[in-house]
Amino acid sequence: MQVKVAKSAGFCFGVQRAVDTVYEQVEKGVRPIYTYGPIIHNEVVVQDMEEKGVRVLNSREELESLTEGTVIIRSHGVGRDVYEILRRKGLNCVDATCPFVKKIHRTVERESAAGKQIIIIGNDRHPEVEGIKGWCQTKAAVIESAAQAEEFELSEAVPVCIVSQTTFNYKKFKDLVEILDKKRYDRIVVNTICNATEERQTEARQIAEEADAMIVIGGSHSSNTQKLFEICRKECGNTYYIQTVHDLDLGVLRSTGLVGITAGASTPKKIIEEVQKRCQN
Ligand code: F3S
Repeated sequence: MQVKVAKSAGFCFGVQRAVDTVYEQVEKGVRPIYTYGPIIHNEVVVQDMEEKGVRVLNSREELESLTEGTVIIRSHGVGRDVYEILRRKGLNCVDATCPFVKKIHRTVERESAAGKQIIIIGNDRHPEVEGIKGWCQTKAAVIESAAQAEEFELSEAVPVCIVSQTTFNYKKFKDLVEILDKKRYDRIVVNTICNATEERQTEARQIAEEADAMIVIGGSHSSNTQKLFEICRKECGNTYYIQTVHDLDLGVLRSTGLVGITAGASTPKKIIEEVQKRCQN
């Protein structure tokens, strides 16, 4: 069995930066430390942090109930209101929002203030989209599917600014913008899909095309992993999704020539290496 691991598999720049930020704070001896939501979609990493005294805040209420400590904002970013809560409560804020997400915040803040209707191409329930919405001066519209794009209604007189969730599928983004273009809005489109995602998706597609079986590793809540899985399955019917090496069923891979491996943005290198070794052995 031949094994090919995608070079772009695993942590992206923003996630690595956020994870490093947490460990830096731990090492500095800062206490108590909280992250607003799990720092990444990976239970192993989150648990390791918990053992080092980092607590995850799961709701706004939990944040509101704090009286002291340091709160780390994860790479997904948050809306302006969260910063206001932190300031009001006198909590120390360490901001690990990915700079690419920060750029979207600045864009929607500026363009919505200039009177444009913001359209976010993405998943309305995703925390990153929540955060982006939280920087719009007026109510943003979120579009995820072709049907939603077709149904979208707005007076032609209103100028529009279209941005994207950083982890959205690039092809799908282009398709949705094309549908919106038929409505003849005066619009600007800012492609805010992160290169890390694009590269990971393109490489996954290329490997899946030639592979006899494909393994996609990632957390069960990770939307970028789910998208990788969709892309790979289109090219290779034998695509399997796993979270750790323990989910790997070598029985189904046994008669396979080339096995491709890729992983979502929040999968630690260690897990990828374990899966690779297991396949090779
Ligand atoms: Fe940032 Fe791109 Fe990762 S936006 S968090 S580097 S996927």
